[in-house]
Amino acid sequence: MNIARVNRISEFDGQTVQLNGWVYNSRRSGKIGFLMLRDGFGIIQCIVAKNDVGEDKFEEFKKITQESSLSIVGEVVKNERAPGGFEIITADLTIHHISTDYPISPKEHGTDFLMNNRHLWLRSKRQHSILKVRHEIIKATRDFFDSHDFTLVDSPIFTSNAAEGSTTLFSTDYFEEQAYLSQTGQLYGEASAMAFGRHYNFGPTFRAEKSKTRRHLTEFWMVEPEIAFCEIEEDMEWAERLIHFIIKRVLENKRAELDILERDIPQLEEALKPFPRISYTEGVNMLKEGGIDFEWGDDFGAPHETFIAEKFEQPIIVHRFPAAIKAFYMKRDPENEKVVLGMDILAPEGYGEIVGGSERETRIDVLEERIAEEGLNQEDFDWFLDLRRFGSVPHSGFGMGIERVVAWICKLPHVRETIPFPRMMGRLRP
Ligand code: 4AD
Ligand code: MG
Repeated sequence: MNIARVNRISEFDGQTVQLNGWVYNSRRSGKIGFLMLRDGFGIIQCIVAKNDVGEDKFEEFKKITQESSLSIVGEVVKNERAPGGFEIITADLTIHHISTDYPISPKEHGTDFLMNNRHLWLRSKRQHSILKVRHEIIKATRDFFDSHDFTLVDSPIFTSNAAEGSTTLFSTDYFEEQAYLSQTGQLYGEASAMAFGRHYNFGPTFRAEKSKTRRHLTEFWMVEPEIAFCEIEEDMEWAERLIHFIIKRVLENKRAELDILERDIPQLEEALKPFPRISYTEGVNMLKEGGIDFEWGDDFGAPHETFIAEKFEQPIIVHRFPAAIKAFYMKRDPENEKVVLGMDILAPEGYGEIVGGSERETRIDVLEERIAEEGLNQEDFDWFLDLRRFGSVPHSGFGMGIERVVAWICKLPHVRETIPFPRMMGRLRP
């Protein structure tokens, strides 16, 4: 007997197959039952008629509940009106387990309730679609870099230092000393770029974000390419090409999921256009012209990002930020030492920053000065400064937060639905 999967059911047209899965829902009308079977790969309608399965099996069918597990044997037949275009005419069914009082019913539940039942909520159609899109985004990201000769080199999670601000560090005992969970793989990525030319690292990163916003997690996944002999303009090009590639892939391969999520496709397709580039200073002027009280030198908050990004249909690149609000490693603009050659990509539709990157400072004295200014421990960065001592070259990179991209592409109200088991302030379980 062929064991079929719902996503490949058309390959079995006219054949009798076995399907293993769970009850998405079921109903009966007299001697005929309708079962929506969820097998992890999709959902299919199975017709269970008393005349086909016999009296005993039909009695068993009557006992099934939402999320009971079972195997079905039946014929695959085309039916234009069935969701997915095919249905199963059941000949036999075997129940593995009857589920009792499954907590998530088709009725509306509050977010907190659903988050507490995240381990079960993952089975729902919407969450399933989101995580399928997430997988596609991750695969596209890897394929993009792999096909351009980038080498994946993993950065460590236990680190001895802060790289993205000491206020969001998670610390943990590390034998006789203190270690911090990595906020970014970048500094190690710079070492890898000097060894491999083009490198990326892709792993979980951690930030003790005390703010409860719809954009912040405490554990999130970041992909970080780092490229030797690359200046800021080329860095922006790589980021733009990556995002174009991801959008194309999702549109090609995850259309059904986007439909379930009711994603506005033409709006998403706008992101395939070139990304306008504006300087931070131009952004500040846009805010001022819009009557928003904002001082040059301040960091953009979410409302400022949204205000600027709303003027465009596609993502935009904002570059050349004040040095004082950016990380120590960003290169000063030789044409204006007050700003750094950093860039952020802001997604449209109010999603804000999805990418942050820069050209890297190569002058040891400037780096030492900035490390001191940030109150960071010089000794922890000695190895990093070696990269400027032994064959230093212009180099650039960026970090793209996977969850922010998933939230935008799926157009979700909150980043908590973009990751299987979100970690946020006040959320460590399940
Ligand atoms: O802008 P960030 O802080 O940049 C860096 O960490 C650099 N070291 C990257 C590099 O140049 N290699 O973070 C990069 C991206 C942000 O643009 C955002 O997409 C995501 O990481 N991000 C978060 N996502 C979810 N929750 C949070 N708390 C996030 N903080 C940053
Ligand atoms: Mg940033």
